[in-house]
Amino acid sequence: MHRSREFSSLVSFYMFSSRTSWLLSPNRLTREIEELRRKGIPLLDLTESNPTHCGFVFDQQGILDALANPQALSYTPDPRGLLPARQAVAGYYAEHGIRPDPGQIFLTTSTSEAYSYVFRLLADPGDAILVPQPSYPLFDFLAGLNDIRVVPYPLIYDHGWQIDLPSLEKRLEDRARAVLVVHPNNPTGSFVRRGELAEVLTFCRQRDMALVADEVFADYSLTADPQRVVSHAAITEALTFTLSGLSKISALPQMKLAWVVVNGPGQQLRDALARLEMIADTYLSLSAPLALALPKLLETRRTIQPQIQERLRSNLQFLDSQLPIDQPVSRLEVEGGWYAVLRLPSIRTDEDWAVELARQDGVLAHPGHFFDFSSEGCLVISLLTGREVFAKGLGRILARVAHCV
Ligand SMILES: Cc1ncc(COP(=O)(O)O)c(C=O)c1O
Repeated sequence: MHRSREFSSLVSFYMFSSRTSWLLSPNRLTREIEELRRKGIPLLDLTESNPTHCGFVFDQQGILDALANPQALSYTPDPRGLLPARQAVAGYYAEHGIRPDPGQIFLTTSTSEAYSYVFRLLADPGDAILVPQPSYPLFDFLAGLNDIRVVPYPLIYDHGWQIDLPSLEKRLEDRARAVLVVHPNNPTGSFVRRGELAEVLTFCRQRDMALVADEVFADYSLTADPQRVVSHAAITEALTFTLSGLSKISALPQMKLAWVVVNGPGQQLRDALARLEMIADTYLSLSAPLALALPKLLETRRTIQPQIQERLRSNLQFLDSQLPIDQPVSRLEVEGGWYAVLRLPSIRTDEDWAVELARQDGVLAHPGHFFDFSSEGCLVISLLTGREVFAKGLGRILARVAHCV
């Protein structure tokens, strides 16, 4: 049995591309959780970030009706996506005071696909993209599948997160093609500030690099800050790709509908649009029923976002009420997004904390190293979690830590 497994992995080695030679065995925490589930042990999942599983009330009939547009019976392909859909996306930005031309918008089937289009446009195999650290773990995979590398640049924490601008310079290498920002970042919840953006734009412009801005969580702000960038979709100083979509804006990840808005100086912008059009035309990936449904699906944000905001705020408020100054657990500053970062005593690694909490207390939380936190003892929890589960799970985390210190 063992032998035949070795044999098959040797065959696989020669058969498949090196970009797919991932370590596919589950990590220690996943194995632990699988074991607990096999035993039927009830778990308090503080990592729940699927909005369709969090008890929110969706306009079910409206959503289903939106998908039944008779115009979808006719095929009229457009590489950018059907115009009324792009006009609706332009209308969404207009509410933020930004007026992209629908011709600058490309619809895609996910932000992941939008990333792939942009990476294919900007980078040759072996080129690099500068990405924030800590951040969204999927960047490694998206880059690898497009034969490029991620080069992390640190976000530093000092009563709030900020881009470590000198490090951006230090991490720069000849083959870097773009700087990526996540606004607000997952999981730190930090927005890009105007001063930071000005420096990043100078950095990009001087080196003919592009800026890629992921704004999927931009509507979920938990604090007010006039220094915050409104949206990167208004930038004209450097070639900029702003990504967003329905998975967070309307809490509809199952619809697989996202977009990229392209901005920048005249000739660069025209060239980027023409090339991106060829990429999009090669796939024509968005289906007509979805494109036609987009205006209505985007509208559903008006009823779903207030529910989510309420959940995020009430969980955060509850969290703070449980963390007086003398607690060994604290939380890092959060400005927006769907997550909170807890700092536990670094008497053990964050993975050890997560495994112990799962095994002893039936509580699931993400260890910080999933997101490449540079220090130990960080756990990431989802503020989207149902209130009762959140309160119970948090209580168990605090009791476990109190027991261990
Ligand atoms: C920063 C960030 N970008 C993009 C996505 C996913 O977007 P989509 O579902 O459109 O691929 C996520 C999902 O959690 C995310 O955290």
